[in-house]
Amino acid sequence: SLRRAYSSLSAIAPPPLAFAFDIDGVLLRGEDVLPTAKRALRTLEGDNPFKKKIPYILLTNGGGVSEEERCKKLSSQLGVTITQTQYIQAHTIIKKSAHNYANKPVLVLGGKLDKVRKVAESYGFKKAYTTLDILAWNPAVWPFYDISQGERETAKTPISAIFVFHDPRNWALDVQVICDVILSGGIIGGPPVRFDERSDNQQSVELIFCNPDLVWRSNFERPRLGQGAFKEAFHAVFYALTGSTYPHVQYGKPTEPTYAFAQDVLTHELESLYGIKSPLRNIYMVGDNPESDIAGANAANWSSILVRTGVYSADQGPPTHTPHYHAENVGEAVWWAIEREY
Ligand code: G3P
Ligand code: MG
Repeated sequence: SLRRAYSSLSAIAPPPLAFAFDIDGVLLRGEDVLPTAKRALRTLEGDNPFKKKIPYILLTNGGGVSEEERCKKLSSQLGVTITQTQYIQAHTIIKKSAHNYANKPVLVLGGKLDKVRKVAESYGFKKAYTTLDILAWNPAVWPFYDISQGERETAKTPISAIFVFHDPRNWALDVQVICDVILSGGIIGGPPVRFDERSDNQQSVELIFCNPDLVWRSNFERPRLGQGAFKEAFHAVFYALTGSTYPHVQYGKPTEPTYAFAQDVLTHELESLYGIKSPLRNIYMVGDNPESDIAGANAANWSSILVRTGVYSADQGPPTHTPHYHAENVGEAVWWAIEREY
């Protein structure tokens, strides 16, 4: 009946469902591909009784490299072609606002720093600097040591924003540099600027985090500290220094901007597959972290499926955010959703 129902439908309408897959703890654990991941994606690529592609995207709080580089690696790991239009990582959403900072110096943190600078430049940032640039700085060398003589004057332009793109590798250096930039109004070594959240002084340096994950699942037996833990460390140090909490912007799952961005991408994916702009009837988020994947999907009125191959495990008791379904793994999650829709 499933085949008959779908084949009659598939002639006149695209599949009414689409998927958003988390990566770490759902498809991968570190470098290891989880057992049912390849089969699950092949099913959506058309290897199913209906012989029809079902739209899907990958929606991760990971990052640190270009979307192009990560898609190439994911395609070879997962055995299907992952295109950049199907891939959203923690800082992809920043592409939309990079033009606002085109000629302003910004600090970008996280991952392998030469790579993260290249990602920022690919988004349109013209003066993206890393904490290693700041570290290289000394009275004889400007913070932006690769700056040309003609641009030397602009080096005195304050850093206008700090973007934590990916998980920082050297928390001590990065917390130190973020505090230096904020407490000098953007010019390290400049006159100190007092920040007091109780006064009405404008924060002169924006602070943007792209991934709130306190923990995530790699191939170690227990979840690992993520960018959300780094954010807690920064705020604790800044509070100890100033008695204030510095305001910040948060992107990444479960935030509303990231899920709205993902919904747009999926709608375009449906249009590119089937040439129609109809609103998606049901989006299934398959995730391993109740605080990011399930919380965000539920808030976005998607259907949420929590798998047992990542951060969440039953010995923690019930998840903090209730999924529509609990699956052992991503393979079971995909078939449960398809059968639920037909
Ligand atoms: O750094 C990546 C980690 O925070 C989580 O990644 O794929 O589970 O959203 P993911
Ligand atoms: Mg995950």
